[in-house]
Amino acid sequence: MQMVQLKLNPQTLKNSSFSQRLQTVAEHVERALDQTLPLPTSRLHEAMRYSVLGGGKRFRSYLIWASSQIFNAPAQEVFKVAAAIELIHSYSLVHDDLPCMDDADMRRNKPSCHKAFGESTAVLVGDALIPLAFQILLSLETSSEIRVELAKKLSEVVGSFGLVAGQMMDLGQEGSRLTLEELTEQQCLKTGVLFGYSMEAGAILGKASQQEQKILQAAGILFGKSFQMIDDWLDEYGDEDKIGKPCRQDTEKLTFLSLLGPRRLYKEAELFLDEALQNLSPFQEKADILREALQCSFYRVK
Ligand code: IPE
Ligand code: IPE
Ligand code: MG
Ligand code: MG
Ligand code: MG
Repeated sequence: MQMVQLKLNPQTLKNSSFSQRLQTVAEHVERALDQTLPLPTSRLHEAMRYSVLGGGKRFRSYLIWASSQIFNAPAQEVFKVAAAIELIHSYSLVHDDLPCMDDADMRRNKPSCHKAFGESTAVLVGDALIPLAFQILLSLETSSEIRVELAKKLSEVVGSFGLVAGQMMDLGQEGSRLTLEELTEQQCLKTGVLFGYSMEAGAILGKASQQEQKILQAAGILFGKSFQMIDDWLDEYGDEDKIGKPCRQDTEKLTFLSLLGPRRLYKEAELFLDEALQNLSPFQEKADILREALQCSFYRVK
């Protein structure tokens, strides 16, 4: 993989607003993705690029960058790991939209992968994005310990005890009765663990202590829980143009909204946000950018 060209000056970045910083980080990650994805010389490669590039908030990328700032981790490698996370996230969305899953026709304001390229290609796009993510991690210009740690942890997070387990539980829940605690644990697997990994990865790249890595992972997971709650709220009340995907996709499913109703959902989501923020207190002002990121994302501050 070619080097990501760095234009940014860390000091300028710290002085700009959240949305400007998010945009800057997203641009660097977009470039890393563009250079990593195969050229569109075949239908499969075209579909991979279609599904990954030019869309998405890149908020997981921002979290890895913001947590890496606490430890002054090298930005080049941070953007590469962010690209790996976005590949995994994009694969999960391509498969999530399939007719056998959530059956969603639009994603990121354009037809979802299977609508544009057909179902079998969409399955294969997902299959191909996963190893590409691991390729990036295993080619990082870091110590071999860091490369292995990042790859091992990602494999745990996305496997059948992580994201895939969460997606599995998410299916076929019509009519099931779960407590809030049970639903939160399930949804944490499909969404929370990747947020946990994103924040932990910034710490790993910054050679943080095991304890610091754990604190960031826990904060990421807590934030991921609030993120999925708000995503469920948006499924009913969001503006389709703004969220870039059809609303009321999950009305038949057991979601935080169907379990809690809108008011309690918001209250519970805010409690998880607060808990995530509390977890960051040991880092004092070094975590200000990360704190701001969690709050701005939650309250949709631009
Ligand atoms: C959507 O995630 C899927 C969930 C886990 C709720 P995002 O809302 O981060 O999707 P993009 O990447 O911005 O499209
Ligand atoms: C998707 O959750 C989670 C994963 C893809 C792992 P949702 O099904 O709620 O996401 P959206 O609403 O389709 O983006
Ligand atoms: Mg889903
Ligand atoms: Mg879905
Ligand atoms: Mg959703």
